[in-house]
Amino acid sequence: MSLLEAKRLEKHYGDHVVLERLDFRVDAGEFVTLVGASGCGKTTFLKMLLGTERISRGSLTLDERPIPDEPGPDRGVVFQKYSVFPHLTVLGNVMIAEELRQSRWLGKSFGAARRHARDKAMARIREVGLSDALGKYPHELSGGMQQRLAIAQALMMRPRILLLDEPFGALDPGIRQDMHELILRLWQDQQLTIFMITHDLKEAFALGTRLWVFDKLRHDPQAPQAYGATITYDLPIAQRQPPQDLKASLAERGLKTLTQETLL
Ligand SMILES: Nc1ncnc2c1ncn2[C@@H]1O[C@H](COP(=O)(O)OP(=O)(O)OP(=O)(O)O)[C@@H](O)[C@H]1O
Ligand SMILES: [Mg+2]
Repeated sequence: MSLLEAKRLEKHYGDHVVLERLDFRVDAGEFVTLVGASGCGKTTFLKMLLGTERISRGSLTLDERPIPDEPGPDRGVVFQKYSVFPHLTVLGNVMIAEELRQSRWLGKSFGAARRHARDKAMARIREVGLSDALGKYPHELSGGMQQRLAIAQALMMRPRILLLDEPFGALDPGIRQDMHELILRLWQDQQLTIFMITHDLKEAFALGTRLWVFDKLRHDPQAPQAYGATITYDLPIAQRQPPQDLKASLAERGLKTLTQETLL
């Protein structure tokens, strides 16, 4: 049984078809990396998996049931920016996920429940290497540390699925390498299924077990919004290096601009 399955999945905003003809199965434990030109619908796709955007047509199932239309503890998310709360410390940012769950209306928990949440949060913070920064606020952290914090927050509820939207896009190359090691370790240790959007094809190949390229197959110059993007390449990454023909093919399709510092 596949963890996730889409059949003829579509997403529209009014007359604007953003995504169309999405058909796929993803098994637990896969690490799918997503690339595609800006505005082609990658974030929209991730939001459908998260449950903050509804599907327009077709089906999208999780464990063979329609994907819930709200976020749940089984799916964690990290965006490029603004994933963490600026007014909360490192510890507060990670605890908040559990506190919100425990008392949805109050946003605070008490006594034993709070101690439990604190222990859990400390463990997650240790996993991402931020134990020395428990009392710091996000603005006191480097970009890499902020993304470590966002990852700890996303993993607080022990999700099965981790959704990453260009999480390392704003980081220096040196820091990015450390983040890659972290994410691969967490993926393996916690047996996560990961979807990661990136503009860096090299990163896509370095991390994923499977690469999806989003692009439009149909174009109407008179009505640019009439057709959406779909998955034009679905490649298993065994050798973790881009095959020559993919490079040529992407370049031909004008996807060269996707990546500046990458292989193309
Ligand atoms: N809430 C919304 N209402 C209307 N249109 C939207 C909404 N969200 C996204 N769109 C449109 O859907 C298209 C896809 O947007 P999306 O953010 O998913 O692209 P993307 O592939 O993530 O781009 P980027 O690489 O720049 O992040 C865009 O044309 C965008 O304007
Ligand atoms: Mg996006």
